[in-house]
Amino acid sequence: MNKLIEDLNWRYATKKYDTNKKISAADFDVIKESLRLTPSSYGLQPLKYLVIENKELREELRTHSFNQSQITDASHIVVFCSYIDIFENHIDEYIENIGKTRSQQIETIKGFGEYMKKEIFSMDKEHRANWNSKQAYIALGQVLHTCANLKIDATPMEGFKAEKYDELLGLKEQNLKSILVCAFGYRSFEDGNANLAKVRKNSADLFLTIN
Ligand SMILES: Cc1cc2nc3c(=O)[nH]c(=O)nc-3n(C[C@H](O)[C@H](O)[C@H](O)COP(=O)(O)O)c2cc1C
Repeated sequence: MNKLIEDLNWRYATKKYDTNKKISAADFDVIKESLRLTPSSYGLQPLKYLVIENKELREELRTHSFNQSQITDASHIVVFCSYIDIFENHIDEYIENIGKTRSQQIETIKGFGEYMKKEIFSMDKEHRANWNSKQAYIALGQVLHTCANLKIDATPMEGFKAEKYDELLGLKEQNLKSILVCAFGYRSFEDGNANLAKVRKNSADLFLTIN
């Protein structure tokens, strides 16, 4: 079987983690780099990733996550946050970053910044917040694949009370809101879900070829 497809079949949304196994610092750096390299609309990256190491905080977050054990038992958990809103300075900083990274004069890329501002500020605030949050899902998809390639287990999670997370983590004050949680670690041998067959629609139901 193709190695990539093998990896995608190997991964599953892990329900029970081995609490004794920790991801090495080197592997976690790869996970972080995968998140950093994730594409986003225009390349704006209106995201922040919170790596929650504090044990008591993880216990508290679990109570706001339908008591899902992954929150406390996985090696690492990351809360994917998106910006509540995008402001002019975010776009200006991005343009500066392009200029610096690619050694381009700001004058030559200013037009791109103006174009982004025109498009982005023509959306209403709610639409912008929604658009920002979608970027987090792209990162989730990419990191799940990265983990599968590294043979590191992961659980994508939406089963948590976002308002409670936002409150506990002081996100609103930072122009952030929690969108997703992803747990990372190694499956417990007791996790019955590890051996379940994948349930997916067949290709005929999913793909429609338009000639
Ligand atoms: C956005 C998103 C949110 C999810 N939330 C949870 C969750 O809170 N808890 C959980 O155990 N699984 C969660 N899942 C896992 C899905 O149930 C799982 O990916 C799906 O059933 C397919 O199974 P598989 O990933 O094992 O192949 C979530 C998946 C996605 C993509």
